[in-house]
Amino acid sequence: MNCIIRPCTVKDCKVILQFIKEIAVHYRVPPIEVKVTLEVLREDGFGAQPQYDCYVAELPPQQTNKEGGIVGYVLSSFTYSAWKGRNLYVDNLYVQPQFRGQQIGKRLIEKAAQAAVAKGCGQLRMHIAKWKTNEMGFLARQGGQDLTAKEGWSLFHLKEDALRRLAARSKF
Ligand SMILES: CC(C)(COP(=O)(O)OP(=O)(O)OC[C@H]1O[C@@H](n2cnc3c(N)ncnc32)[C@H](O)[C@@H]1OP(=O)(O)O)[C@@H](O)C(=O)NCCC(=O)NCCS
Repeated sequence: MNCIIRPCTVKDCKVILQFIKEIAVHYRVPPIEVKVTLEVLREDGFGAQPQYDCYVAELPPQQTNKEGGIVGYVLSSFTYSAWKGRNLYVDNLYVQPQFRGQQIGKRLIEKAAQAAVAKGCGQLRMHIAKWKTNEMGFLARQGGQDLTAKEGWSLFHLKEDALRRLAARSKF
């Protein structure tokens, strides 16, 4: 397999956005929930203050039977843990279904791990839906531990309306 893993460039953002939408379909999330646009992806990845890191997996175009050779990506950003210092949070790890099972996902997460270590991170985190048993198996195989099963952690989020209500209550 002649797959290369390389840093994403601004020109790749179009295909990354397409993949983000493919993941949304996979998670049965209505497309309207994908708020990120091409302009936002470009600015946030390659503008004055980059907010994420991204690597793509690329095959020679003749091996993909589609336009362009990018078949997967990993997108991450840094978070800070008061206990552990700098962490890498992987928001997306994705290989198109027809290219799975060929070690591409593994090479992508290895690259993210290499970048995390190089930047002084103490750990790599990601979250995954409980019904995604294959992906959970994949992560366990890479050395990941399920914090929900092991320590009973729950993931909370405040959606935009809840976030705004909370922010509006702040008097200072
Ligand atoms: C998770 C995903 C990126 C894996 O991509 P992939 O290219 O098919 O994975 P790979 O072929 O690189 O996996 C190879 C390694 O994972 C292991 N693996 C894969 N599936 C596994 C499973 N269900 N249980 C245990 N190990 C598994 C293989 O044994 C192999 O490890 P080894 O070489 O040490 O034996 C892909 O399934 C995907 O895009 N899923 C949808 C997106 C998603 O939900 N991402 C969430 C993040 S995990």
